[in-house]
Amino acid sequence: MREKISLYPYLRRLLFGLDSERAHEFGLAALRIPAWPHVLRAPHPDPRLLQSLWGKTFANPVGLAAGFDKDARAVRGLAALGFGFLEVGTVTPRAQPGNPKPRMFRHPEAESLQNALGFNNRGAEALARQLEAIAPYPVPIGINLGKNKDTPTERALDDYRLLFERLAPLADYLVVNLSSPNTPGLRDLQNERFVRDVLAAADGAARRPILVKLSPDLEPRIAADLAAAALDAGAAGIIATNTTIDYSLLAGSGPPGGLSGQVLRERSFEVFQAIAARTFGRGVLVSVGGIDSAEEAYRRLKAGASLVQVYTALVYRGPFLPRRINEGLLALMARDGVRSIAEVIGADQPQR
Ligand code: FNR
Repeated sequence: MREKISLYPYLRRLLFGLDSERAHEFGLAALRIPAWPHVLRAPHPDPRLLQSLWGKTFANPVGLAAGFDKDARAVRGLAALGFGFLEVGTVTPRAQPGNPKPRMFRHPEAESLQNALGFNNRGAEALARQLEAIAPYPVPIGINLGKNKDTPTERALDDYRLLFERLAPLADYLVVNLSSPNTPGLRDLQNERFVRDVLAAADGAARRPILVKLSPDLEPRIAADLAAAALDAGAAGIIATNTTIDYSLLAGSGPPGGLSGQVLRERSFEVFQAIAARTFGRGVLVSVGGIDSAEEAYRRLKAGASLVQVYTALVYRGPFLPRRINEGLLALMARDGVRSIAEVIGADQPQR
């Protein structure tokens, strides 16, 4: 069952015979089987990987990125894979179908994905009911928030206000997603004024930490300015990054949608590094984009991330990836004579 006799290469061959979105649905359905958490049994937490953030215990720093389980349908199965936390959503106020299919594609030669899903989800009310049914959660849960496609950009604030009110009580942290390339106009909200307004709108409604998720297509300097402004305005942290629409990173690719996985790795890291150089120590930084190994996760932690997230590598490397990353992190820490994750975080930051 475990790593030594990995069946994933065989399963992957079957899954990759299906359309990418279908394979995803299949994987999620499998993770919803109630027996899975008992069969898989989440690994014992190792105290060296543990952190307390916002009064919650994160057993390890490896989380599931937003978009994999938008409607929180497989929380227990996903937690049993060994993730330290899960981010559900993106959820919009009202249910919406997303863009026409096909809208999710693989680039296997580059271990990358391309998606133009467009926030397909069941809406805030359905997510709230689902989370109410699951509580208490097996691991901390973040809820990633977005505006409906048919909400005009100038009314976006109303969507976020509604989402804060309904979902904040159910979240360990909230994310204002301003960086999906698949909702027209959304990324235009990546400006200091909107960030200040949305954080002000959250004030009071949501006594929960709020993070802002940014795009890798911002100039690193601009991303750092915006991250600093968000933290000044009360954000609890920054998530960097979402997918990229820089198709020059992958020969033969083109619209629609955003690229994730290996092709995104260095771009995402560069933007994260710029943000960390400007803001390390002022909030929780979360690095995501092309992470597929313990070495890569370690690099992000040393650069200043308190947490990392994965999505695409789970598809290419299989469900044991979070365990493997955590075991690898412990091995790297032992090699370097480091006793706790807190000593790793920001080790490469000069001002630490
Ligand atoms: C995503 N991602 C995403 N992000 C987000 O904030 N809200 C969302 O709904 C989604 N949906 C989504 C669907 C699919 C199919 C993919 C591949 C990705 C982006 C994701 O959370 C992450 O930021 C990027 O994919 C980069 O990480 P990886 O995939 O390179 O590990």
